[in-house]
Amino acid sequence: MATSVSYSILFILVLIRTSHAQTGLVLPLRRDAKTSQFYATFQMGSERATINAVIHLSGQHLWIACDNYTSTTYAPIPCDSAECEAAKGSGCSGCNGPARPGCSNNTCGTASSNPFLPYITSYGLYEDTLSSKSHVQLPEFIFSCVPNDFVEGLAAPASGMVGLSRFDIAFHKVVAEKMKVPDRFSICPPSSGIGKLTVGGGAPAKSDISGFVKTTPLIVNKPVSNQPFFSDNDLSREYFIDVRSIRVAGEAVEVKESYFHINGDRVGGTKISSLQNYTALHTSIYKPLARAFEKAASDMRIKSAAAVAPFRACFRSETLKRTGAGPEVPAIDLVLPGEDVYWRIAGANAVVEVDRKTVCLAFVDAGSRPTTSVVIGAHQLEENYLEFDVAASQLRFTSSLLVHNKSCSRI
Ligand SMILES: *[C@@H]1O[C@H](CO)[C@@H](O)[C@H](O)[C@H]1NC(C)=O
Ligand SMILES: *[C@@H]1O[C@H](CO)[C@@H](O)[C@H](O)[C@H]1NC(C)=O
Ligand SMILES: *[C@@H]1O[C@H](CO)[C@@H](O)[C@H](O)[C@H]1NC(C)=O
Ligand SMILES: *[C@@H]1O[C@H](CO)[C@@H](O)[C@H](O)[C@H]1NC(C)=O
Repeated sequence: MATSVSYSILFILVLIRTSHAQTGLVLPLRRDAKTSQFYATFQMGSERATINAVIHLSGQHLWIACDNYTSTTYAPIPCDSAECEAAKGSGCSGCNGPARPGCSNNTCGTASSNPFLPYITSYGLYEDTLSSKSHVQLPEFIFSCVPNDFVEGLAAPASGMVGLSRFDIAFHKVVAEKMKVPDRFSICPPSSGIGKLTVGGGAPAKSDISGFVKTTPLIVNKPVSNQPFFSDNDLSREYFIDVRSIRVAGEAVEVKESYFHINGDRVGGTKISSLQNYTALHTSIYKPLARAFEKAASDMRIKSAAAVAPFRACFRSETLKRTGAGPEVPAIDLVLPGEDVYWRIAGANAVVEVDRKTVCLAFVDAGSRPTTSVVIGAHQLEENYLEFDVAASQLRFTSSLLVHNKSCSRI
């Protein structure tokens, strides 16, 4: 009897484990039309306050504006604690006001950055319960408390930032450790409706997308940006992929290969940014790409229009056919290592409607001295499923789900 009871307890435990292992944490992800930022929604603290926080693939950890945050379950992380050391805390902060999240003594500080502000400041680290509408509860979740005016530049509904880099206390690493799931996360940024940010789980089971998922290695560069302090031996916390060439309508664009490589000075290469609105290219890539796109468009009898800054290749909407995946325009392929592996950017990801009569190639010229030659931006991520398998150092991606009559709000 005792044995069968403990077996069934074991069985239930295994079931709970497995269901977590399959789903991990799943949070709704929305797009802010004004800024093109994507923000996730979750609950924090004893009052289960709703927090919207902008996702940032290069961000170090979760930070939240705390001036109005109340909770009875929060605790400051003390300066000399193991947690402070694990968080690579810097400095010890104190506060004279009444004790509250964001005002406590002997508190471990860590550099927090908002890419829209020109400075980086150390703010205190706290822990409190993070919960989701799907009943996941993660007690003692680490985050930093910043003053309300630190949220400048963020989408209006947001009061924080979800850092998804490779930093030790990045959001997905904390979730993975607490839920005992693999260190991987996925984003499916919607163009409208509600997409998903998941941590731990694999591709969604509800809607089978496995048939069009491709895989490419994530490359570790040396640090180039968005890292408050780094030394030469550090590795970048950002996500780079090895784009080897670019094709437009199936034809290779003539670009010196060296622009795609990362040189000894960490210059060059391709990274993914969830905060940059449009993909930005080194001018020596942008110019031949735009020319090839205009030529291929003209071959499809798409008529050019006057340029609308910051875009340079624009077209008359009335000359474009519409499809379920946006206007029919030449496809742009980012060619990756391996046989037939490429990230296709087509339709609504390739162009943007700037007014009722005009659409433009949705790429911008980053000039002749950008640190990174290709920075894939938010417009190109919309309605793409992207799974960052940090533990295995691989990116799994689908290109536009709309092509397959699916979308981020329906997977
Ligand atoms: C936050 O609290 C301050 C005063 O404590 C108040 O003036 C402000 O309106 C509050 N902000 C929000 C967004 O609730
Ligand atoms: C921090 O310590 C100082 C000096 O002991 C004290 O005046 C202050 O109230 C303390 N702050 C908090 C938030 O407890
Ligand atoms: C893209 O973002 C930049 C920097 O935040 C901003 O200055 C620019 O206006 C945005 N471009 C468009 C077309 O929205
Ligand atoms: C696309 O999917 C929707 C909803 O799943 C379905 O109603 C519709 O028939 C599909 N359209 C095509 C062309 O397959």
